[in-house]
Amino acid sequence: FAFTPDNLVWAKREIAKYPPGKEASAVLSLLWRAQEQEGWTTEPAIRGIADMLGMAYIRVLEVATFYTMFQLAPVGKTAHIQVCGTTPCMLRGSEALIEICKERIADHAHELSSDGKFSWEEVECLGCCANAPVVQIGKDTYEDLNPQLFDKLLYDLRTGKAPKPGSQIGRRASCPQGGPT
Ligand code: FES
Repeated sequence: FAFTPDNLVWAKREIAKYPPGKEASAVLSLLWRAQEQEGWTTEPAIRGIADMLGMAYIRVLEVATFYTMFQLAPVGKTAHIQVCGTTPCMLRGSEALIEICKERIADHAHELSSDGKFSWEEVECLGCCANAPVVQIGKDTYEDLNPQLFDKLLYDLRTGKAPKPGSQIGRRASCPQGGPT
């Protein structure tokens, strides 16, 4: 694994934010950047980041396996869809969204669609329960969904349109947008 030249410059700057001996504090942001670069969090990337930060491989693996934002197997090239299945979203219809994922993408979570462009999984609370049900794609959340709106979201992604994150019925978004930089 190697960061691209631009990402390497960024990674060195990121590590330099922390005092000597505390380089491990950059582990989350480096893992996230590696995932953005590779499409998923590969084993070589975990090893490479461990080397860069002077950490044991197992410590970086522990971080990567703890957070559901890190994908440890290939995901859909266009979108990996994380559907919140925690109680508020479940009560507001997330099970119907999961059924749509099974019909349109793949029978099981973490499977790739036949064209390799999509994958999905159920996750725990995404922190914007007031606008349930919610899905997250990359750093963005799509809120106040129903089966029709979710179908349209999938259609837009499939046809190369860039759906607008936030409430899909125009309410003010309740969750902070954007993941690690
Ligand atoms: Fe789904 Fe909190 S329960 S966002």
